[in-house]
Amino acid sequence: MRISRPLVIEHFGDISITSPVKTLSMASSVKTGGEGYRVSMDELIGIAEKTVIVVPVKDEDLFLFRNTLYAIPEWSPVIVVSASPHNIFEKEVEVAKLVNEQTGKHIILVHQRDPAWSTVLTNTRLSSMLDGNGLVRYGKGEGMLLSILFSKWLGAEYIGFVDSDNYIPGSIHEYAMIYYTGFSYLNHKYSMVRIVWSHKGKLTGAYEYGEETGISDAFIKYFISLFGKTISGDKRVVLRRKGRVSQIVEEVLNYALSVARGIGTDIVKTPNSGEHALSTELALNMEWAGGFSVETYELAFLLSECFIGSRDGSPCGFKEGVKILQVESLNPHIHSEKGDEHLAGMLAESLGAIYYSKLNNQLVSKRIREALKMYADNAEPIKPRTYSLKGVNPVKIIEEYIAQSKLLHQFGSRA
Ligand code: GDP
Ligand code: CO
Repeated sequence: MRISRPLVIEHFGDISITSPVKTLSMASSVKTGGEGYRVSMDELIGIAEKTVIVVPVKDEDLFLFRNTLYAIPEWSPVIVVSASPHNIFEKEVEVAKLVNEQTGKHIILVHQRDPAWSTVLTNTRLSSMLDGNGLVRYGKGEGMLLSILFSKWLGAEYIGFVDSDNYIPGSIHEYAMIYYTGFSYLNHKYSMVRIVWSHKGKLTGAYEYGEETGISDAFIKYFISLFGKTISGDKRVVLRRKGRVSQIVEEVLNYALSVARGIGTDIVKTPNSGEHALSTELALNMEWAGGFSVETYELAFLLSECFIGSRDGSPCGFKEGVKILQVESLNPHIHSEKGDEHLAGMLAESLGAIYYSKLNNQLVSKRIREALKMYADNAEPIKPRTYSLKGVNPVKIIEEYIAQSKLLHQFGSRA
């Protein structure tokens, strides 16, 4: 694997963020010379074995879920956190079992709504994760938080996330390879690698095509995403440089940083990228948000604590500083389209993460309101539910959970 070196590194207090570097090669040779940062296969495998790949899933097409599991390199243990209905979860378990039989991959499947979490979390600082029924709340962030506890229990040094609604297995493989390479490059206690999607796919006409032919939408989308050609008339895939929500959140976050620093910046390219990875040390020592605010909140929290907060004299919790590497993949990101309502909700949650942080001020809040007015039917910014892992003992929680759970599945074991 070979990535380019950053042209720019910007510092915000104790947080450093690189301009996006690029994948230069996915299988590099020591003999070719070339430039950039190259990792040998041996080193890559060593890091991969210490990296858990987490797959959050909520009722996705099983075809996509299966390909996600195949695409993750065999070196890394996989944690699937599912919030799917139980009949679907049973099928996810079946798929994971088969993938394990075929490849030997170590796969753990956890159900987010498993009643066992209830007894285990009740008297801990994570009890606010439970809803009125005593079950862990739905929400991507909540699922990710459970996977962080598991990663610590597994002894992993790094945790990487990949969504399970992705039509391009090759992109998932590339994301994992980028995570390993990024951690090698950063070589730092508190590190984070965030993917900048090279292009985002938007499928037009796919549904009409499915109706005409009786072929499943999933297959059509997959087919179109692979070939990207006009199939007939307007039925084709468009590769946009950016997703809509990403574009707006990115603009607002950069604006907030520009206002705070008094020097303009457009450095942040990945405010709500689900595809990102971080060192377990960082994951355990930062705060997390529930739902879809999770990714934006990671940056909003770190920048609030270590940039805005430290200017007020309160020390940043990460003595060695936090290093964030942004990497642009070669593969496009094509995932299931979930409709405008989903996008509006996601925008209100993502912008809420900034609105309710120390990055907010009069100017920023005006900008957030304008964006919500224009793109989310004038929705209110949603206040994130936040969680801290300070004072939580992940190993104890997971051991108790394993002893009680009837829904946990584990195929294969630690290599
Ligand atoms: P988008 O890609 O940002 O539009 O968001 P998605 O709806 O595709 O969600 C991202 C990933 O998180 C997908 O793999 C979903 O299946 C998964 N996901 C969404 N909500 C939840 C949840 O409540 N719990 C868990 N465990 N996963 C979720
Ligand atoms: Co998606």
